[in-house]
Amino acid sequence: MIDVAGLQKMYRMGAVEVSAMRGITIHINRGEFVGIMGPSGSGKSTLLHQLGLLDTPTAGRITLNGTDVSHLNDEERTRFRLMHLGYVFQDYALVSELTVKENVAIPALMQGRPLTECYAAATDVLEKVGLGKRLDHLVHELSGGEQQRVSIARALVNRPAIVFADEPCANLDTESSRTVLDLFRAVNRDLGQTVAMVSHEPWHMEYFDRIIFIRDGLLDEERIAREGKAGMPEH
Ligand SMILES: Nc1ncnc2c1ncn2[C@@H]1O[C@H](COP(=O)(O)OP(=O)(O)O)[C@@H](O)[C@H]1O
Ligand SMILES: [Mg+2]
Repeated sequence: MIDVAGLQKMYRMGAVEVSAMRGITIHINRGEFVGIMGPSGSGKSTLLHQLGLLDTPTAGRITLNGTDVSHLNDEERTRFRLMHLGYVFQDYALVSELTVKENVAIPALMQGRPLTECYAAATDVLEKVGLGKRLDHLVHELSGGEQQRVSIARALVNRPAIVFADEPCANLDTESSRTVLDLFRAVNRDLGQTVAMVSHEPWHMEYFDRIIFIRDGLLDEERIAREGKAGMPEH
């Protein structure tokens, strides 16, 4: 499902080069709920950005859902993201001038589908995340936990094969975090979505099928062997 070989990322800041990823090889099975964990600055977001086609690696190969995405041009990458991938960010990244339903409909509209169909899809997925009564609210009228559920609904509206989440609970209290994590787990189980989530909270570990530990831009093999649970069988 997600195959990564020899992934490297070098950031250039003027004359300074930062090696954020120094050769990462991983495989994530279809239907797995994988946690990506490690200290701050270890390269977790960098890895997720490369996997999610939000950035281009310096070296290495990425295959997503059977497509070698390393050779796609910008337009093809955009199309691939729209058709196959969903994203949830720490800061929700919602459009404050739009209603809950309109926010969630955006990725569907970008696929060029008719408005009524997009709103129907948005309503359907908002009901699934428990926000069926908030469709016409502006997003700032919702709590942080509810806003993150809106952003999860937006990530799911096109039924992507893979959902990427970068510390989605970082701004939430424990109760809202549990609601969000339960939701991800339900989505993973009921809709069969493959989920890759970055987290630095040890208590989140219980939610993941498997944990990929990163340290200094490399897999922390020792910690994976010690603490990472075995992967789920192939579906
Ligand atoms: N756009 C960027 N330009 C320069 N350096 C970056 C950039 N993004 C991340 N880095 C550096 O790469 C390293 C890994 O960062 P990041 O992937 O954000 O870590 P994490 O998400 O694990 O906290 C850090 O040293 C960080 O400062
Ligand atoms: Mg990060």
